[in-house]
Amino acid sequence: MSTVTAAAVREHRVTVRSLLQHKRRGRAFSMLTAYDFPFARIFDQAGIDVLLVGDSLGNTVQGRETTLPVTLDEVVYHARCVSRAAARALVVGDMPFGSYQVSVEEAVRSAVRLVKEGGVHAVKLEGGRVVRETIERIVAAEIPVMGHVGLTPQAVHRMGGYRVQGRGQDGRERVLADALAVEAAGAFAVVLEGVPADLAREVTARLAIPTIGIGAGVHCDGQVLVMHDLLGLSDWTPSFARPYANLGALASQAARQFADEVAHRKFPGEEHSFR
Ligand code: KIV
Repeated sequence: MSTVTAAAVREHRVTVRSLLQHKRRGRAFSMLTAYDFPFARIFDQAGIDVLLVGDSLGNTVQGRETTLPVTLDEVVYHARCVSRAAARALVVGDMPFGSYQVSVEEAVRSAVRLVKEGGVHAVKLEGGRVVRETIERIVAAEIPVMGHVGLTPQAVHRMGGYRVQGRGQDGRERVLADALAVEAAGAFAVVLEGVPADLAREVTARLAIPTIGIGAGVHCDGQVLVMHDLLGLSDWTPSFARPYANLGALASQAARQFADEVAHRKFPGEEHSFR
């Protein structure tokens, strides 16, 4: 990269500070998951502010039932692909289950790997009050942390399924306390997943750091979607997501046409053949 280009990238790069400014100015920002180079480049060039290398790759890329088996090595690999493509977006690497729960030291080591080997600018981890010290120590290692409270998929077995959190007075207080703890620990933003919209509005008003909603209504400071839901690449779309395209149907049509043309010896044509 030339010096001029590197300077231009620095100038326009979305940072943890610019996201905070967006909140202060009331400008909603966008985050999408990305797991590979081509889609990361498309989303980056489309102006998506944050690319999340989510552990949702366990579901979307690996076809697993939960995110629990995803390993740190796997997230590092996908993070490397995404960070290579992102010229403008802030790249956040998700800390998978098992990479931060055992000890604070291991959590810091895992976060360092995501930055050093995966090339991410920040990490995300799930939980509220229980991960307060973990967030503090990762932040103390100069790595920005995004929190994630409400419906936390790594806690699927404790929650008894992927259930909306924060309903009822106790539930509301738990989610609010978790979000406040994440902010107090030094996180620069927090994902609010699967919580009632009015609770997300209250949390967003109470926090100085930006909230990023998924299944949390319109009042969050930013919104995140899993790219497979955005693009219609899954068999099933959750009720809180809107498919903005149907790439699944397009890919299927292309594959069928290819198979048909091969069967009828219509492909390759003269123009695709060497002399
Ligand atoms: O892993 C992921 O994709 C996430 C988002 C749904 C926020 O955590």
